[in-house]
Formats: sequence, structure tokens, C-alpha cells
Amino acid sequence: MAEKIVILTGAGISAESGLGTFRDADGLWSQVRIEDVATPEAFARDPARVHAFYNMRRAAAAAAAPNPAHHALARLQRDHPGEVVIVTQNVDDLHGRAGAEVLHMHGALARALCASCGETWAAPPEMAPGDPCPACERPATRPDVVWFGEMPHRLDDIADHLAACSLFAAIGTSGAVYPAAGFVREARAAGADTVELNLGASDVSPLFHRRLTGPASRVVPDWVDTLLAQ
Ligand code: APR
Repeated sequence: MAEKIVILTGAGISAESGLGTFRDADGLWSQVRIEDVATPEAFARDPARVHAFYNMRRAAAAAAAPNPAHHALARLQRDHPGEVVIVTQNVDDLHGRAGAEVLHMHGALARALCASCGETWAAPPEMAPGDPCPACERPATRPDVVWFGEMPHRLDDIADHLAACSLFAAIGTSGAVYPAAGFVREARAAGADTVELNLGASDVSPLFHRRLTGPASRVVPDWVDTLLAQ
């Protein structure tokens, strides 16, 4: 097995758990406009609408369960302590509920954030404009998710992991959103082997050494079995 593996996951890994992706046919971004629900400007203009969007997604995530792909990655991480870094763009908590430790670069639906003092806490099922922060009491609470135009979390740590990895895998992500879409280049610059696992082609497929095509619930457990047998 490779000495250090970095795995990037996207919405495709949670699709078979019943959570919609963003850019596939019928994806979330064909139903609502990014500018209306996923930017700081949208929240400033219409916080009730933005909260309603994330309340709906929080409820969907809470009702969903991890699928065999989430469980397989948790098994890989458990069997190779300290060698498997999972970075997710997903704001659901299905990796965690499968038992994996993941770096949530786009934040988490299950957390609330105070835009005034920076405190974070477990989000209630429903958030509303004007909810007071439990720390500073200002009515500046928002979902702890990274919106378009904001900086993803933990980029320095991720860059360090990519610079040190010998295998990089991207699972169920379209390669349309940076900086995550650029991780394959960083991994290659570090000399890593790279593999893409996806239902089809992504925007960055040509950059990978290998591709495993099919639904995550099948290709991810098979890939993990192969790695663990090495
Ligand atoms: N198995 C594997 N891959 C799948 C499956 C599946 N069952 N279903 C869909 N996919 C793949 C699609 O082929 C596509 O490449 O998952 C990818 C989903 O792409 P997007 O909808 O663009 O999701 P993602 O790449 O995670 O989006 C990145 O964009 O708006 C944002 O912040 C949001 O984190 C998100 C970011």
C-alpha cells in the first residue's frame, strides 16, 4: 500500500445515500441559483431564504445514512492509522457517521457559525435570521458552510498532506470548483500516483493516471479491497 494517501470526496459519494449532487442532471444548481443561496451577498440580501435552503439540506442529510463507499473509506483509514487523509467538499456528515475522520474544507451543515465573533457550535435542525450567538449574543449566526467567494478551510494543512502523499484519489467530484479541482495537480507535482473514481468523466479526468468508472457504492469498496490486499 502507498505510504500516505489523500482522498478527496465530492457530492457523488453521497448520491447513493439519497443526497442530490450539484451539477448532474436535476442537480441542486439546476433548481436554485448559486447567487440566491450560496454567497455572502445572498445571505445579506435574504437570510431567510438562505437559512431555508440549508435547513432543508440539513434535514435531508440527517435523514440519510452512509453508504458502502463511506464505510469502505472508514475501514481503509482504520486499518492504516495516520496514513489516510480524507478531505471532503461535502457539508453532510456521512463520512463521520461511517466512523471516518475527515477534513471538511467546505464546512458542515451540522455546525452553526457566528459571523461576528467566530464561535461555532452544533446547529439546531432549523436556523433562522436573528438567532443569537451563544457566546457573544449578537444576532449574527449563519450556517458554518463555505460560500462562493469565501476561503475554504484548512488549505495549508491540505497542501502539506498533498505535498507528502504517494497516492491521491478523487471520488465523486466534477472538478468544477477550485481549489479542490487543482489538488490532482499538486499531488502530481509531489510525484504521487493519482486515481479518479467517478460515475463518468470530470472536468479534470485527463490529469489522472487511472480512472475507475462506476457508482461509488461499488467502485470505492472494490478499490479499498485492492489497496488492503497489497
Ligand atoms: N458515484 C460516483 N460518482 C458520482 C455518482 C455516484 N453514484 N453520482 C454522481 N457522481 C459524480 C458525477 O459524475 C460528478 O462528477 O459526482 C460528481 C458530482 O459533481 P458536483 O455535483 O459538481 O459536486 P462536487 O464536485 O462535490 O461540487 C463541488 O461545488 O457548489 C459546490 O460547494 C459545493 O462542494 C460543492 C462543490
